[in-house]
Amino acid sequence: MTEPNPSAVPSAGRIVIVMPTYNERQNLESIAGRVRTALPEADLLVVDDNSPDGTGDIADKLSEADPHVQALHRTEKAGLGKAYIAGFGWALERGYDVIVEMDADGSHQPEHLPSLVGALDGADLSIGSRWVRGGKVVNWPRSREALSRGANIYTRIMLGLSVRDATAGFRAYRAATLRTISLSQVESTGYCFQIDLTVRVANAGLRIVEVPITFVEREHGASKMSNSIIGEAFWRVAQWGVARRVRRNR
Ligand code: GDD
Ligand code: MN
Repeated sequence: MTEPNPSAVPSAGRIVIVMPTYNERQNLESIAGRVRTALPEADLLVVDDNSPDGTGDIADKLSEADPHVQALHRTEKAGLGKAYIAGFGWALERGYDVIVEMDADGSHQPEHLPSLVGALDGADLSIGSRWVRGGKVVNWPRSREALSRGANIYTRIMLGLSVRDATAGFRAYRAATLRTISLSQVESTGYCFQIDLTVRVANAGLRIVEVPITFVEREHGASKMSNSIIGEAFWRVAQWGVARRVRRNR
């Protein structure tokens, strides 16, 4: 775990952590508390897709008790990408300078937030990366590690990206970065949203840095990863790869 580095934070401006949730009843309160401790000046926005397990009610309770916590309720499960687009729109409308993405299940450790946000001093996007030196994954089944490594190799080959962890969901964006990359045109609904935005930031010529993190597999609840999410990522990356080759050959 990295030690919080307070000196890295003040240059960041107003920070919001956007946290999508679907059935995270057992995780939300604890992760919200850790976020508030790790980066007390930041706000937390929970984006819940009307979780049947009542996660949205927990978000409301946290919000009532703490002015730094807000809840955005959506009517149905529409995918991680759509939840983030809604959350980013909310944050941009409210003038935040730094917008962080983070899972609610404990895999992304709030204690990394200062180094993740601090890295924006020299970058437009900082990615909490599992696959750079110093990055780690704890308690992931072999199959899941193979999927993540394979997806990143596939993405690098198809898209020529130099980013090691393009599917990572723990990131900090400058608001200016999100304003530059035409969010309204993003079609990715599932986890390939992460790759989509990485490509957009890289294509815009903006600076991306990777900060090593330790990703800890969740203890409670279940992953929402599915074959259709994998399928969407596979096909979209293939399409972007073809489009890139066509552009290069023109
Ligand atoms: N609102 C909303 N809507 N939230 C969702 C949805 C959705 O449709 N699907 C997932 N989430 C939330 C979960 O509740 C959790 O907080 C977070 O998004 C990540 O979901 P997980 O299901 O725990 O993801 P994972 O652990 O399998 O995948 C991790 O690795 C992927 C590949 O590297 C995440 O870090 C992903 O972001 C990452 O792309
Ligand atoms: Mn997870």
